[in-house]
Amino acid sequence: MEGKLALVTGASSGIGEALCRDLVSRGWAVVGIARTGEALNQIQKNLGSLFTPITCDVSDRASIERVSKSLLVEQKCPSLFFLNAGIAGEKAVENPEKFDLSLHDKIMAVNYFGVLAWVEFWEQPALANGGAQFIATSSVNAIFAPPSGSAYAASKAAVAKAFEGLSLTYFDTNLSFSVVYPGPVNTPGLKGTLPFTWEPEWMAKYMIECALKGKSRCEPSAFYAVLMRLLRVLPKNLVMNLLKKL
Ligand SMILES: NC(=O)c1ccc[n+]([C@@H]2O[C@H](COP(=O)([O-])OP(=O)(O)OC[C@H]3O[C@@H](n4cnc5c(N)ncnc54)[C@H](OP(=O)(O)O)[C@@H]3O)[C@@H](O)[C@H]2O)c1
Repeated sequence: MEGKLALVTGASSGIGEALCRDLVSRGWAVVGIARTGEALNQIQKNLGSLFTPITCDVSDRASIERVSKSLLVEQKCPSLFFLNAGIAGEKAVENPEKFDLSLHDKIMAVNYFGVLAWVEFWEQPALANGGAQFIATSSVNAIFAPPSGSAYAASKAAVAKAFEGLSLTYFDTNLSFSVVYPGPVNTPGLKGTLPFTWEPEWMAKYMIECALKGKSRCEPSAFYAVLMRLLRVLPKNLVMNLLKKL
């Protein structure tokens, strides 16, 4: 199993779609994963034969296993895994008047277990095939959890911590793990308008370069890196006032 093959989850939209475009423009073959077949097929029409669309719900482990096994049967073993699919934006906003654990279940199933299930399946095939890099799209909300975003922030912090641990667990092997902490990116997954918002194309380019350099931790926005750490230590009333101004 040779050549440049990448797998991208959340490929039908936003950052994932931009990752697919950028990787294909660099000569990578890309397997694009999402639930919406129509959107994936449209992307395939634009990108051509280097892009393979596959529908899969990443919260369904049997589905991940089925897709992964079918790739192995075709002797396809990716060396880059952009594990980017996520529930974000409006879909992740919590009702401040009624705590709902089922939203935590739903978000963790996609944003946390929907990342680690790929690692579980591909660990051994990738080790045997000369190695692979797993890149998780975390968020600056892994550093600071905003109001009504406890489940989202927890899922992004959890996946980042899991990858930190895995990068040390496998440090002397040919598997590596990277975490990217994007600030706001102009996609359907962004709630509202925020300063210093990146375009998905810039974020994709940044993430690919970060991955190709083998970095284990990448924070694209200096503004949000500082702001998020500040928000963690300021008094709550000041934090809420600042958030209203953003
Ligand atoms: N935009 C931002 O400001 C921002 C900032 C920090 C981090 N992020 C993270 O970046 C990642 C991409 O988000 P985005 O902004 O590009 O949002 P987006 O445009 O809404 O894209 C989300 C992608 O995830 C896929 N997805 C969602 N649930 C899925 C499931 N159960 N199974 C398979 N695919 C699923 C969606 O495809 P289908 O609906 O077709 O399945 C879609 O392709 C997310 O992990 C998000 O948390 C975004």
